[in-house]
Amino acid sequence: MITEKELARLSYMGAPNILTTVPGPKSMKVLGEVPKYESLTRPGGANPPVWDDGFGATVKDPDGNIFIDMTAGVAVSAVGRRHPLVIKAMEKQMSKIMHAIEAVHSRRNELARKISNIMPAGLRGKCVSYFTQSGSGAVETAIKFAHRITGKSQIVAFHGAYHGVWCGSGALTAGDGYRGYGPMMPGVIHVPYAYCYRCCFGLKYPSCDLQCAKYVDYVLNTPYTAANDVAALIIEPQQGEGGYLIPPPGYLESIKKSCEKKGCLFIADEVQSGAGRSGKMWSIEYSNVVPDMLTWGKGMGGDLPMAGLSFRSDLAATLPEASQPGTFAANALSCVVCMTNIDILTDKNDDLISRAAQLGAEIISELQAGARKIDIIGDVRGRGFFIGVELVKDKTSREPLPSDAVGTILGELLSQGVTCVPCGRYHNVVRFMPPLVITKEYLMKASQILLNICKKY
Ligand SMILES: Cc1ncc(COP(=O)(O)O)c(C=O)c1O
Repeated sequence: MITEKELARLSYMGAPNILTTVPGPKSMKVLGEVPKYESLTRPGGANPPVWDDGFGATVKDPDGNIFIDMTAGVAVSAVGRRHPLVIKAMEKQMSKIMHAIEAVHSRRNELARKISNIMPAGLRGKCVSYFTQSGSGAVETAIKFAHRITGKSQIVAFHGAYHGVWCGSGALTAGDGYRGYGPMMPGVIHVPYAYCYRCCFGLKYPSCDLQCAKYVDYVLNTPYTAANDVAALIIEPQQGEGGYLIPPPGYLESIKKSCEKKGCLFIADEVQSGAGRSGKMWSIEYSNVVPDMLTWGKGMGGDLPMAGLSFRSDLAATLPEASQPGTFAANALSCVVCMTNIDILTDKNDDLISRAAQLGAEIISELQAGARKIDIIGDVRGRGFFIGVELVKDKTSREPLPSDAVGTILGELLSQGVTCVPCGRYHNVVRFMPPLVITKEYLMKASQILLNICKKY
């Protein structure tokens, strides 16, 4: 396994190192300019950090402040920023070809093969890939393919789901803040996700007997539920934006069985939970479910945009040729970066993914132990480097901590040198999703800083 010393060389030393108030004067100047030239529909928050330089699991702002990066750019920088092997591979490819429209090029071909070989067992070696530049694009394409393959129209998605913001993927995304943009894809049915801390049936696992999965089965496989024309069900095997939720054992298997009974496709959206973040290459590998389609992005691309879907070859054979073009798809430079990321993640000596599983479990225990004495931490959950800390008014009521208080905590985290992006239906979940190359020292420091801040409330 890669040593802590080797990992330390992949990030800035001595983080966090905060020299000014955050945001400092140089950052404030940039922030002042933003609304003049950029649409504020992109997320930000009151005091977003301004990023000027990123290295490994650390980022620097224009004022020279160095932060421990617990965001990985929202689960993107799986191998950290500017990994030396990625830079080397990029430099080599840059002297050859970068953009190649829809042409077949060797990098694209190599990447498709590599991806097929890292898919979950059952799909591995029996799938083809379609490349996009974003997770939204991957999901959008998966929906179109599911419609065409099945000849059916409806898609089942989950409460708390985030699958993107386009007219198709956005219709699956459940967050209120992303809606209100006029008509989107019709025919979406939302059902409850396994959110054990806030079970909508008021039950507890395991005595609940997976009531939430039974409900999905009821919707899919009972007459008069208006689910008469379902093409596919799409699910995040670990729900991301909806609160960093880990479904209980047996849940995904039950959902898959219901899809088989119904005759609809099962799409696993691994855009956020994939690329090793969960402690396995794909979080669905914690179950024995074989998805019909798997969408991926974020950490697979890392420093350059790369996303796509991989799906059963027998299904792909039913789609008409040349019916889904994409001008920028599979840019050769992005392909090379993605392949290098895969090589780094799957390197048996470094074993970054197993390390994330082990160290993630340690950090979760550490946070859980600390949280016992802190009334505003209601729940700590996760797998690998996919960790959610749910903030509440108090442990008894479990009422979500109001967003202004969450904002204050995040602001304090930033002032003390830790970048974090919240998630959850009430925006009250602090998530830890650092690059897999983060040192144990930085992880522990960030956890302690969070616990110390929460203790004061
Ligand atoms: C599970 C999931 N699917 C799809 C997307 C959309 O990806 P992108 O922002 O690259 O369009 C996201 C983004 O957070 C996601 O978490």
